[in-house]
Amino acid sequence: MNEYHQPVLLNESIEWLNVIEKGIYVDATFGGGGHSRAILSTLKDGYLYAFDCDKDVIKNIPDDSRFRLIRANFKYLKNSLSEHGVTQIDGLLADLGVSSHQFDTENRGFSIRFDAELDMRMDQSGKLTAAKIIQTYSAAELKSILSRYGEIQNSGRIAHAIETERKKKAIRTTSDLIQLLKRFVKPESENKFFARVFQALRIEVNDELGALKNLLEQAAEIIVPGGRLVIISYHSLEDRMVKNFMRYGDTWGEPHKDIKGNLIRPFNPILKKPLTAGIKEISCNPRSKSAKMRVAEKINLSELP
Ligand SMILES: C[S@@+](CC[C@H](N)C(=O)[O-])C[C@H]1O[C@@H](n2cnc3c(N)ncnc32)[C@H](O)[C@@H]1O
Repeated sequence: MNEYHQPVLLNESIEWLNVIEKGIYVDATFGGGGHSRAILSTLKDGYLYAFDCDKDVIKNIPDDSRFRLIRANFKYLKNSLSEHGVTQIDGLLADLGVSSHQFDTENRGFSIRFDAELDMRMDQSGKLTAAKIIQTYSAAELKSILSRYGEIQNSGRIAHAIETERKKKAIRTTSDLIQLLKRFVKPESENKFFARVFQALRIEVNDELGALKNLLEQAAEIIVPGGRLVIISYHSLEDRMVKNFMRYGDTWGEPHKDIKGNLIRPFNPILKKPLTAGIKEISCNPRSKSAKMRVAEKINLSELP
């Protein structure tokens, strides 16, 4: 058991990544390094680059000459790799979202379980925190974040309440926010509702959907034909983007076609439906319950009709 983070769909993701022994791979979300270590164990003379923007992951770096951690946001995938002389890779795995370590560290402000500053930055050097959003965004902006990223129905009323309340007293901590939210939900649904609001703020703080779009588009440029893209996501917004990109080459699901009407997409989806965790994994690691893994293989673009 890894205390930092228990990897999800570990065997399945490595199997579908189809690691070739001499290949160059990217683990876009290093975290506790569970997936990275499994990739290294199947690589022979290959090389693994791992990305993570959280400085806490440094303690998890494996002692292995075939490994390098790039402490950067994965939205800079192409540029960061080219700084290491890498322009093509054989496959990429991303296990999105926050790690258990981030979630369970009280002062990071990700969890409704602890009273802490509303921080929620994965990259501790980032300028935007959840408290800053709550204190400075207009009611219209707050409403848009809550409804788009948290899929919350009464987002307008909540946004208005935040705007009114913060004029009287700053909303800086998780409990300040929870206190305000209580009036919008029945006690039996509180936790689910709070978690959605927190998810919405976290997505905005870390520009999670923007980073994912960049990652997918750049992966399409640098994965070699036949190379695999394996993405594990934990909420429907991310999964929809991944599904659309793998099917249509576009995160919005807008098919790109050539003048003859042929679909132009960089990847072929390999699995018809996303792979999910089994009962055994879910009982050992409840976090795996919401995981959805999608896999696609890079098309040889010169072979397109
Ligand atoms: C779910 S954890 C990954 C766990 C990892 N697979 C393991 O086995 O331990 C996600 C990690 O990705 C990092 N992360 C999330 N979004 C990122 C981004 N846009 N750029 C770089 N790292 C990111 C987080 O900081 C976190 O450590």
